[in-house]
Amino acid sequence: MIIAIDGPAGSGKSSVARSVALRMNFHYLDTGAMYRAVAVGAMQRDIDLRDGVALREFSKSRTIRFAYEEGEVLPSRVYFGDEEMTDHIRTPQVDGAVSLVAGCPELRGDMLAKQRMLGSKGNYVVEGRDIGSVVFPNAALKIFLTACVEERARRRSFQNEARGLPSDFEKTLQALKDRDERDFNREIAPLVVAEDAVELDTTNMNEEEVIQAIVDLATEVRDRVCGPDGGADDDNCKGLPEIGDEYA
Ligand code: DC
Repeated sequence: MIIAIDGPAGSGKSSVARSVALRMNFHYLDTGAMYRAVAVGAMQRDIDLRDGVALREFSKSRTIRFAYEEGEVLPSRVYFGDEEMTDHIRTPQVDGAVSLVAGCPELRGDMLAKQRMLGSKGNYVVEGRDIGSVVFPNAALKIFLTACVEERARRRSFQNEARGLPSDFEKTLQALKDRDERDFNREIAPLVVAEDAVELDTTNMNEEEVIQAIVDLATEVRDRVCGPDGGADDDNCKGLPEIGDEYA
């Protein structure tokens, strides 16, 4: 079964989605990391991010893979072809450029196919922008995480500061407003709240409260979809693979 977690930039999706996957013993797929890996590779080669045909050609020439660090339960490393992109995908520079890549229709079709292929392998928490609306419209549970833009900017500035990256609040706020504008208003797969999604405004919630609220909903849905034994014999209800497996 799929738990889709969508929402705007800085709504806390990534850390919440990872924690939910861990507590539920589900796989985890970060679809934003896929667009980010392509963006970094293209920027390193001076490929025009507005040239959809060139971007698609480039992205098709390599496989995006998620991989584990030794002993990890969920994969934290992302590779584009042979190149490890993990440490390059979450910089303010990539934040600014990635929505051009994500807005490219030529590329999105390939990403959609890959995301569906990966997510068809068992129990998954999948996070992104269009997971409940486009990629997995039949997801068993759809969550739309929001928070007011000032709160999201505050969280993002803290994160950047913790990583030793530029963390100016006003600049972060403006960058988030720009990304919202592009994510909500783009022509293809814009950020929308799926009709049957549970909308969770996290402005006044701490992370633990958000995680617990989703785990409670997910547990109820899983018991219904996978049965009381967790669907042990059902391919659609498989939990985490052996540590060290790669998702390619
Ligand atoms: O969630 P994120 O900030 O890592 O996403 C990076 C970019 O990719 C962002 O511009 C939104 C876009 N994205 C998307 O269009 N569809 C997805 N399923 C996931 C991310």
